[in-house]
Amino acid sequence: MEKLTGRNLNVSIFISGRGSNMLSLIKYSKIKRSKIKVNLIISNNKFSKGLDFAKKNKIKYFIIDYSKKKQAEYKILGYLKKNKIDLICLAGFMKILSSGFIKKFKNPILNIHPSLLPKYKGLHTHRRAIENKDKFSGATVHFVSPKLDSGKIILRKKVRILKSDTEKTLAKKVLKIEHRLYPAAIEKIFRKSTL
Ligand code: GRF
Repeated sequence: MEKLTGRNLNVSIFISGRGSNMLSLIKYSKIKRSKIKVNLIISNNKFSKGLDFAKKNKIKYFIIDYSKKKQAEYKILGYLKKNKIDLICLAGFMKILSSGFIKKFKNPILNIHPSLLPKYKGLHTHRRAIENKDKFSGATVHFVSPKLDSGKIILRKKVRILKSDTEKTLAKKVLKIEHRLYPAAIEKIFRKSTL
């Protein structure tokens, strides 16, 4: 694997909706010590609010029709190759990448998940944490593997769940830490130079 020195990595962010994590990564890419360049946004949803940030920041984006997954992934792989993408960051991307896609891309793929993995893979993480009366929740950044939310964990951060927390207030608290966690996880990978 290539040593992470010398040049900035070309990053593609995949989104489906709000795009607040995408925005935090774009902001991070602009600070001096950052070694990433966000140069491609992929969205499966033309109404994704995150696309406004792509436009504002003049980042190339493509809206992919996912009604035929095989064709969608084939198209995306073409865009990734053309744009020399070194790293994919999934940020609220609501489609599951096939194992064929993961193999063919060859470079690392990261995801951010709103729970302390391996707890609560999949959806409704905040509701499940509250229902189980957990004392803590949090967020995790991990490598993407063919098994959902199960790849190697890079970084996690906890938040306390208060008795007064609802699904909504917990989601808000977790999202706030997500915005710092994703850049921190990328920095950790760079420090370890294992990409
Ligand atoms: C985040 O909570 C992320 O952890 C999860 O989906 C949500 C996306 O939010 N995978 P946003 O689109 O980044 O605002």
